[in-house]
Amino acid sequence: MKLTIVAATGGIGRQALEQAVAAGHDVTAVVRNPGNLSRAVRAVAVDPAALEPAVAGADAVLSGLGPRSSAEAGVASRGTRAIVAAMRATGVRRIVVVSAAPISTVPAPGRPKPPRHDPGDGFLMRNLLSPLTKAALRKPYADLALMEDVLRDSGLDWTVLRPPRLTDKPPTGTYRTAYGQNLRRGLLVSRADVAHLMLRVLEQPETIKQTIGIAN
Ligand SMILES: NC(=O)c1ccc[n+]([C@@H]2O[C@H](COP(=O)([O-])OP(=O)(O)OC[C@H]3O[C@@H](n4cnc5c(N)ncnc54)[C@H](OP(=O)(O)O)[C@@H]3O)[C@@H](O)[C@H]2O)c1
Repeated sequence: MKLTIVAATGGIGRQALEQAVAAGHDVTAVVRNPGNLSRAVRAVAVDPAALEPAVAGADAVLSGLGPRSSAEAGVASRGTRAIVAAMRATGVRRIVVVSAAPISTVPAPGRPKPPRHDPGDGFLMRNLLSPLTKAALRKPYADLALMEDVLRDSGLDWTVLRPPRLTDKPPTGTYRTAYGQNLRRGLLVSRADVAHLMLRVLEQPETIKQTIGIAN
C-alpha cells in the first residue's frame, strides 16, 4: 500500500514506520524534524501547504500526532483538522489515528454528554485511575476528544484507536481489542502493538468509523 505516516518520529509513529517499511509498503513521512527519522523514506515537512502533496495518492494516512508536553496540547485536533482538509481536497479516504482510553468519557462539543463510565472499565479504573488521569491530563484529553469530533464530522473512513498507558516493549501481536469500549484490566499496551493494529485495521473494513480499545 501507499501510506502517509504523520508524526513518524514519535513513539508510535516510529513503530508504524518500521513495521510499514518491513511489510513492503511505500511510505511518505510527515514530520517536523526529518533528521530524526529512523528510515530513509520520502519526508515532507509539517506544513499545511505540503500536506496535500504528502497525502495525494495514498491508500491511507496513519497519524501518531500528539502533544510531547501539556504545553503542546491542541496539536492533535489542529493537526488532524489540517490532515482531514488535505485528504478531502485530494480524495483520500482512509485515516487511522491514536487517541486514549479515557476519551470515551471526555465531553467535546460534538459529544457533550458522553457516558459517565466506559463499559469496559472495571471498578478501580472507573472510580480511581480514570478520574485521576482525566484531572491530570485535562488539556491533552480535551484536545484528543476534539480530534475525535473532527474525524466523526469528516465524512472520511476513519478509525480511532484508544490505548491505555503506553510502553516501549517489543511488539507481541497478541494484544486484545474491543469496538467502542476499553478492555477490562487493560492497563498497558506497547507502542509497537498500537502501531501493529494501525496497520492491521487497514485490511479490516469493519473497523471503519469505529473507536477501538486496545490493551495487553
Ligand atoms: N503516553 C501515554 O501513555 C499515552 C497513552 C494513551 C494515549 N496516548 C496518546 O498517544 C499519542 C502518541 O503517543 P507517542 O508515545 O507516540 O507520543 P510521542 O512520542 O510524544 O509522539 C508525538 C508525535 O507528535 C509529533 N508532534 C507533536 N507536536 C507537534 C507539532 N506541533 N508539530 C508537528 N509534530 C508534532 C511529535 O513530533 P517530534 O517527533 O518531532 O517531537 C511526535 O512525532 C500521544 O501523543 C497521546 O496523545 C499516550
